[in-house]
Amino acid sequence: MIRYAWEVVRNVLSLRFLASMGYSLGYYIHEHVAWRARIHAAPDVRIHATASIRNAQNVYVGKNSHINHLCCVWADEHSRIVLGDNLLMGPGVCLFSSNHSTVKGQPMTYQERRAADIVIGDDVWLGAHSVITAGTTIANGVVVAAGAVVTRSITEENVIVGGVPAKVISQRREPVEVGAGGTETLEVAAGR
Ligand SMILES: CC(C)(COP(=O)(O)OP(=O)(O)OC[C@H]1O[C@@H](n2cnc3c(N)ncnc32)[C@H](O)[C@@H]1OP(=O)(O)O)[C@@H](O)C(=O)NCCC(=O)NCCS
Repeated sequence: MIRYAWEVVRNVLSLRFLASMGYSLGYYIHEHVAWRARIHAAPDVRIHATASIRNAQNVYVGKNSHINHLCCVWADEHSRIVLGDNLLMGPGVCLFSSNHSTVKGQPMTYQERRAADIVIGDDVWLGAHSVITAGTTIANGVVVAAGAVVTRSITEENVIVGGVPAKVISQRREPVEVGAGGTETLEVAAGR
């Protein structure tokens, strides 16, 4: 016990404590505060405290959209990420609007960046841990299954895509009549 108490005292009274506090505060402001002044988001957008937003001046979020726990929305200095209205994201979704080149013999950290916009339509659901790569467009009403990697644009509306690379696996079903009380909308795959 005394050993741990001494460790606390020894570290609190050190320059590395100040350096560490400064680093943590700077990181906190960069990750959680500064981007809020630059992002283009409708007033009712919900962005989880653990989401990571980069180059927020190039991030546009439509009405009633939700960026969930541990999502990365990383725009580039030279390319935008445009998210439509009523977008739903599962946890851990990643959108990157630039790629590093992969030229052989050149360290990855020095590779040139290739930036291209990502544009997501309205009423899209990006399933948990899906990845959306630079230069892709996703049409209105598309569902991206959990774990999918979207490497090419999805141009057909209301389809369900899944897999790596993402392909159409199904369609969203029409609303189902539930009697006099109205209709129930079931967004599940059709034809099964
Ligand atoms: C895509 C999804 C919506 C489909 O749900 P569903 O309509 O109930 O579909 P089913 O589970 O009946 O599966 C239908 C087919 O799609 C396949 N499939 C389902 N999820 C898949 C996925 N994530 N990746 C690839 N294929 C998938 C199934 O294997 C099945 O294939 P089969 O017809 O050859 O057997 C669902 O599986 C999913 O990924 N949901 C995301 C959940 C999530 O991220 N939640 C976070 C909270 S916001």
